Amino acid sequence: MSDTGKRPGQHTEDAFIQELGGTFLTRFYGLLRAARLYSVSNQTVQRQLQEFMALLMKGLEEETEITLVTASGYFYLNNVRIRAQSSLLAVYHALMAELERRQLGGVRVLQGVSLAEVERFIQLFVGAEDPTLAEGLSDALAAASINHILTISPQEVDVEELQEVSRETEVVTERGRARKVFWRAVIGTKKIVLRAVQTGRPDLRQAKRLVQPVVDTIMKNELSIVGLTAVKGHDEYTYAHCVNVSVLSVSMGQALGLSRQVLADLGVAGLLHDIGKLSVPAVVLQKPAALTPEEWDVMRRHPIEGLKMMTHMPGFSPLILEGMRVCLEHHMNHDRTGYPKFNADWGQSTLSAIVAVADCFDAITAHRAYHKRPRSAFEGLQYMLGPSRVQFEPMALWALVRTVGLYPAGTVLLTASNHVVLSLSPNPGDLRRPHCRVIVRPDGTVVPEDQTEVWDPMPATESVTKVLSPEDYQNADQLLAA
Ligand SMILES: [Fe+2]
Ligand SMILES: [Fe+2]
Repeated sequence: MSDTGKRPGQHTEDAFIQELGGTFLTRFYGLLRAARLYSVSNQTVQRQLQEFMALLMKGLEEETEITLVTASGYFYLNNVRIRAQSSLLAVYHALMAELERRQLGGVRVLQGVSLAEVERFIQLFVGAEDPTLAEGLSDALAAASINHILTISPQEVDVEELQEVSRETEVVTERGRARKVFWRAVIGTKKIVLRAVQTGRPDLRQAKRLVQPVVDTIMKNELSIVGLTAVKGHDEYTYAHCVNVSVLSVSMGQALGLSRQVLADLGVAGLLHDIGKLSVPAVVLQKPAALTPEEWDVMRRHPIEGLKMMTHMPGFSPLILEGMRVCLEHHMNHDRTGYPKFNADWGQSTLSAIVAVADCFDAITAHRAYHKRPRSAFEGLQYMLGPSRVQFEPMALWALVRTVGLYPAGTVLLTASNHVVLSLSPNPGDLRRPHCRVIVRPDGTVVPEDQTEVWDPMPATESVTKVLSPEDYQNADQLLAA
């Protein structure tokens, strides 16, 4: 927010609202989820209701009203933007989808609100999932004498006022938009997968609809969407993996000069590459330890099971054919050391070769309960370019480096001038100098989280002298701060 027009004491208020913001979203969404599963008299719903109410009361002690609105991919609580930390991302975007589904810009809660009003509001809100009912939500609230909770239409949200009045506005908006595209794809993928469990085949039209904005974002060179694939340890990772592979594949395809149409097909094929895992029992998929040889046998069937699912699609098109090949070939490896086994003259398709690289890069950097710590993206890239490079099509590996850079998003670097910086996104003009955020200055001062010092990209006078591992960084942090 800009300082212009701030009231005295606004900074303290901002800090208060900022602190409340994340918890507010989590509790609101938790309550909605519980109320969708059970009746309001259920113990879980009642407990969530009490917790949400306690939070509202805390907020309303300090403020006359609590207003939650969404604009340009962000949430604002009383005009203060709620930071979307990685732990909050899944809730952030799932709740945003709930408001959008009801064509709402936000909700306003006034001082004097009662528990009964909140309870009834939640019931009506959950019941208004159907767009025809959503239209009448505001009237339904009035009819139920809910006078302290009001809905806000998207038209009422003053986007201008909410956005930072600075030259960064455009960047923030573009990044915000990319984030929205990404998380919509994650939530949409979850729906496709859950539906496919019932129907036995994925909804191709829905997959195309999700991938189109991803292709558009990448074609606009808004590569912050690629940076989002680096966020791993959240609840929705199973679905985010599909989206990550789709995003990385499309971006790699763009680096290789593929046409928009082929990129769209590649995005869909990437999104559905693991659909055959639906046939693998959950105990194997979610096993928090290394798999036994028998369990590996079951797991190794997922490419062929995916191919089978794709054959159940209605109609036939080049996209279905490409999708089938990607399902079947994404673990075959360029040197044929993977699975399933093919005859020597079977050639891996270009799209399969790209998806195989994107898939491996995303999977080896993911959190696994039985790994001491996941490989960092830099370590993952080193491994793929080093000992395991024979497994991959060289052209696809090159495209991966073009897409994520030599120091992928999330890598902590030490530079020649003794700055500690965090890589944010690659710089296609010079892969050795990514766009990054300064974490520690040469004098040892740590840049506060709310003051972003960004190199857009790393200046030509700088160079990377060391890649810090997460452990190294802890030490470096202490040393530099001392
Ligand atoms: Fe797979
Ligand atoms: Fe995969």
